[in-house]
Amino acid sequence: RIDEQEIRLLPKAEVHVHLEGTFALVDLLRLAKENGVALPGPAATIFDIGTHDEFTKPEVTTGGTAGGVGGAGLSGFLRFLDWQCGLVRTPEQAARIAYAFAARQTASGIRYSDVIVNPTHWNAWHGREIELMQALAAGLDEAEQDGLCVTNMAYSLLRTQSALEAEQIVDTLVGRRPPRVVALSVDGDEKASGPTGAKFRTAFRAAEAAGLHRTVHAGESSGPEGIREALDHLHAERIDHGVRAIEDDALIRRLIDESIPLGVCPRSNVTLGLYPDWESHPLPRLVAAGVRVTLNTDDPAPLACTLDEDWAVASAVYGFGRPELARFAAESIHASFADADLKRDLL
Ligand code: ADE
Ligand code: ZN
Repeated sequence: RIDEQEIRLLPKAEVHVHLEGTFALVDLLRLAKENGVALPGPAATIFDIGTHDEFTKPEVTTGGTAGGVGGAGLSGFLRFLDWQCGLVRTPEQAARIAYAFAARQTASGIRYSDVIVNPTHWNAWHGREIELMQALAAGLDEAEQDGLCVTNMAYSLLRTQSALEAEQIVDTLVGRRPPRVVALSVDGDEKASGPTGAKFRTAFRAAEAAGLHRTVHAGESSGPEGIREALDHLHAERIDHGVRAIEDDALIRRLIDESIPLGVCPRSNVTLGLYPDWESHPLPRLVAAGVRVTLNTDDPAPLACTLDEDWAVASAVYGFGRPELARFAAESIHASFADADLKRDLL
């Protein structure tokens, strides 16, 4: 097994990580205290909040064990993110969370991140989404000045938003151009929204015309057809997850031909119930087929992991040696939306 220490030293990027999924317990406690918010009860303790166990139970109930802030599977997980992001209310708190993100990334040896931010989860900022992005950018600026990981942001639509909302968001983004926002994204649960390719086509075309990158969650809560829609309608340059492409040989061929990287997150898929264990996850088959694969955490804080640990687990479970890990590191930089100069420095 190749240890985390060695993995941390590889210059690498992370391209599929949600800011909403990086709040440390200590940051949550401080936010709750600053806002005078009680922890979810009645019987819950802080140890019940956002732990691995919360999301692994079968997806049968609404409302989680921690007073309804979470629940099992992806949908319960998304409710947990709403509760947690609702604790961030001031620009200073937002900047602090962004700074803490960069520090967390740096500790895993990550030199550059494309972080996904979905303002629908940040309920104190509804109607002030651009101000949220500006406050986060200020925290990321300070982190970079302090020598921490460089980060750009992907502004993410929630799948259940309407076509009109999506188009208005892109209009505002293009008009106001918040700093460090380099991409448009879609996340959320396709089981709750139905197909989203056609619905967001106009918004994504406008983003593309304005020079924004595009990355789309697909092939997690949707099958191969979700990935096809992301490519056809949304001109996705990267697919977040994308693992269910393994069910469709013609799609695998297309991903290779069109050189589309996947932002794969095995621990997230296993914890949220898409695959029963690491052994049955398609990651090694995607790599063997020749698909461009990056290896990411998705939501490391509630999933209780770090990127260096997960690369070590992948190395142990799938038998990836030093050459394969070095290839993952290089691919993470190639697949990222870092600017060309930074990519050259990191490679
Ligand atoms: N938001 C945060 N994590 C997510 C995931 N794994 N899938 C969809 N939306 C998400
Ligand atoms: Zn994700």
